[in-house]
Amino acid sequence: MLFICSNNKVDMGWSLPALLALATLGSAQLQETCLSVEEDPYLLFGTKTAYIFANRGLPNNNRAHEVPGCQPVAFWMMQRHGSHNPEADEIERLQNLTDLKNNIISNYRNSNFRNTNNRICVSDVKILEHWQYNPRHNLSFAGDLTSDGYLSAQQLAQAFKRKYPELFTDNRHNYLFKYVKESRLSTTFRAFSEGIFKTMIDSDDLPKENDEKLLRPYKFCNAWTKSTEENPDSPSQRTIFESKYEYKQMVTNVSLRLGFNYDVDAAVVRGIYLMCRYNKAWDVTQISPWCAAFTREDLRRLEYAEDLETYYKYGYGNDLNKKVGCAYVKDMMSFFSKHVENEMPQQPQVMVHLTEAPAILLALGAMATHQDTVPLTGDNYHSAAIQARKWASSKMAPFNANLAAVLYKCTLNGNFQINDQYQVLLLENERPISLDWCRVGLCEWSQVVSKLGEVANACDLEACNGATAIGQFVAITVALVFFAVRSLV
Ligand SMILES: *[C@@H]1O[C@H](CO)[C@@H](O)[C@H](O)[C@H]1NC(C)=O
Ligand SMILES: *[C@@H]1O[C@H](CO)[C@@H](O)[C@H](O)[C@H]1NC(C)=O
Ligand SMILES: *[C@@H]1O[C@H](CO)[C@@H](O)[C@H](O)[C@H]1NC(C)=O
Repeated sequence: MLFICSNNKVDMGWSLPALLALATLGSAQLQETCLSVEEDPYLLFGTKTAYIFANRGLPNNNRAHEVPGCQPVAFWMMQRHGSHNPEADEIERLQNLTDLKNNIISNYRNSNFRNTNNRICVSDVKILEHWQYNPRHNLSFAGDLTSDGYLSAQQLAQAFKRKYPELFTDNRHNYLFKYVKESRLSTTFRAFSEGIFKTMIDSDDLPKENDEKLLRPYKFCNAWTKSTEENPDSPSQRTIFESKYEYKQMVTNVSLRLGFNYDVDAAVVRGIYLMCRYNKAWDVTQISPWCAAFTREDLRRLEYAEDLETYYKYGYGNDLNKKVGCAYVKDMMSFFSKHVENEMPQQPQVMVHLTEAPAILLALGAMATHQDTVPLTGDNYHSAAIQARKWASSKMAPFNANLAAVLYKCTLNGNFQINDQYQVLLLENERPISLDWCRVGLCEWSQVVSKLGEVANACDLEACNGATAIGQFVAITVALVFFAVRSLV
């Protein structure tokens, strides 16, 4: 629902008196849409969605973890980092918004609107006027976790600990943490472990693994890297979508709304979108003036463009993705198998990957979740299947996204609904995953072995090998030639 803001309601603290006079003058004819104060704003921003927006309505007394007749014996999870500062390659684009802001204000001042039914309202311009690029978002802190990102990771650790106190104990040997040693993930590890142990502990004391080859198999898969590069001869579905009328119309409407006499560059619109979604992730309660550039429908198109990208890069759009994502399923299966094969409790009991969006998306794909009947393409945006698509990065990989699997050991007469002594509960962002071979996220171990065990057993990254072998051969040849040349001089 759009909120129509009438000009005479503008508060008098307005620091552009000329602007106000102008706005009041035109108030008889103008109906300005104030998008910043929309009652039910659209807050699904793809992989830059705040966890609480992606996971609305999660019941506080969520009892999915209580399985009658069963005790949790092992816990495996992938936890994505939370919101972060702009990346090094985004800083300039976002700094440039200062010039854009000045242009928008002067457009407003000059009443530079082609379409008076589609123009930014005075209070949105006013919020924009107060916006400044945060100078701390510079190269020194590029990509670092924000304080909200830190707190959210702590809170999630505490939430899981509350549900599984028998596994999340104070014994550090119960844990194994896996993450690549990078600032954002190391900080997420600190936050998460602080959430578990309720105090800053010496992270050197906690068992952990940092092998990037195991944690980011896709980065070491030449065939995968090749297949994700943009090919000028066959443009990506995202590029196709962005060349369509549906997308261009969004760019036109945003340009009109901001008072430009021409369509601004699509890259400028992407910059505005980036700032808008960062703003709403850094502080979920603050209004972002940049989000006021977009209607709900504009945001849904921008979201679809990113879904197209993730669908082909990490999802069902490319068969190779399952063959890479299986590495995470294999990790989970070998962890659980140890617990099932040994009657005695095993250490570790809790395995936590601190990770990023590609890994979560690849793992969800390898588990065959979020599968659509119709492939996402650049030209089916308006189809009903796509409007109701299951592949949605806003829901699958928001900030702090998590994918958890809990192994339960049951007494067979304790729960008449189950057949196996072992059960696995699959949770996505704390909710049971719906899979047709499980009951509300709870899956028989025999089914897990047949469905996910099969994925794990077939997982050898063979599909990457062809290209890797050539890559290695070239590297060795180059090294030999280099060596030969060096020995000559
Ligand atoms: C930022 O603005 C400058 C000056 O207009 C321009 O040359 C540069 O390409 C812009 N950078 C980005 C990343 O948009
Ligand atoms: C980034 O900002 C901080 C704080 O304002 C400052 O100390 C630091 O020198 C800046 N770094 C760069 C690369 O500009
Ligand atoms: C753009 O504006 C036109 C005219 O107001 C409207 O019909 C159309 O649905 C809008 N497009 C988007 C993407 O919101």
